[in-house]
Amino acid sequence: MRMVDIIEAKRDGHELTADQIQQFIDGYVNGDIPDYQVSALLMAIYFNGMTTAESTALTMAMLHSGDVIDLSSIDGIKVDKHSTGGVGDKTTLVLGPLVAAAGAKVAKLSGRGLGHTGGTLDKLESIPGLSIAIEPDQFVKQVNQIGIAVAGQTANLCPADKLLYALRDVTATVPSVPLIASSIMSKKLASGSDVIVLDVKVGEGAFMKTIDDARALSKVMVGIGTEVGKQVVAFITDMSQPLGYTVGNKLEVIEAIETLQGHGPEDLTHLCVEIGSQMVHAAAIAPTLEDAGTLVKKALASGAALDKQHAMFAAQGGTLPDLDAFISVNDIVEVPSPRSGYVHDIDALAIGLAAMKMGAGRATKEDAIDPDVGIKLAVKVGDRIEQGQPLATLYSNKDNLEDIKQEVLEAFHIASAAIAKPDIIFEIITKHDL
Ligand code: URA
Repeated sequence: MRMVDIIEAKRDGHELTADQIQQFIDGYVNGDIPDYQVSALLMAIYFNGMTTAESTALTMAMLHSGDVIDLSSIDGIKVDKHSTGGVGDKTTLVLGPLVAAAGAKVAKLSGRGLGHTGGTLDKLESIPGLSIAIEPDQFVKQVNQIGIAVAGQTANLCPADKLLYALRDVTATVPSVPLIASSIMSKKLASGSDVIVLDVKVGEGAFMKTIDDARALSKVMVGIGTEVGKQVVAFITDMSQPLGYTVGNKLEVIEAIETLQGHGPEDLTHLCVEIGSQMVHAAAIAPTLEDAGTLVKKALASGAALDKQHAMFAAQGGTLPDLDAFISVNDIVEVPSPRSGYVHDIDALAIGLAAMKMGAGRATKEDAIDPDVGIKLAVKVGDRIEQGQPLATLYSNKDNLEDIKQEVLEAFHIASAAIAKPDIIFEIITKHDL
């Protein structure tokens, strides 16, 4: 079939067959189908959506466009977790060791940060000596030996996704549920784990701005995973304010360590314990979710998860210096509150963008990052603040911080009325919700 017929079928609202989808992906990856035709098809998908069968076929075609990681030589059930991206999201650095300490096998491929969102690889690489470029046999060996490895994706993992994502970026077709779902799930399925727990962020700092959109995306991703025989659970979680208190690579590593030391932020700790319990249960380590929760909490309280985090850093060549000397910046500047009241909102997008402009993140894929800089919030939504007290502290290597200070200040909404602290977990979607 000609590509123009596939575009026409989608334009007119017909369901594409798996063969048509395979043909489009193969033709695009091998260069036979030009960008302009794929752009037209993406726009037709954007407007007309896809059925679960189409989304699954697209995912499978993208997944088989490159390497598929074979984790069969790792004993036991392999678990993975994916966040759709947010501000201050250091969950993997806490959750991975926590779940591994409770007995699960964590074989995780992570990504870098872009725009206002951070990436696990950048955080890990801020630890002196730590490498995220692990050869496949060493990766498998590390997971078998200590239960966890976190590495970068191989260059040939889902090449179709790399091409499509770049095209979506310049054709205004990124925010499409089937395209996001197939992009994420193809990479997760190619990474080889048996259990995939998705952390679908919702709010100002996330891709999904409403619960309805986050629920729709979660259901499609859980549907795709279930269709191909994986255990997939999606958490819908808050990204209206940053997660925890820190945004910036070394600041987030410190907060992740403090969380495993037992004195981390409440939202981050709760999120990691809840997602961790699902992962440990799905890995068949505990017969019930409640038993899994007990194991996870024990791993946290006993220090076993902290030891596991250090073992992982060391296995990947990392040496943690004294945490008090870890961050080295020219300036540490407070942003004082202009009034007394209660914190009603901390715009995660604005904080993420301010951190990016300070050098903690990348505006484009090619940008270098500064691992030492970032923003540490002093308060979270629901807290009381007095005039003149700090709302946040900036760790900076820039000369002029006035604009950034103003942006950070404007991210806070302070009002007189008291307000309850928001929940971090809104919903959990399993195959039974489809
Ligand atoms: N993350 C991805 O990997 N792909 C998308 O399309 C959106 C978010």
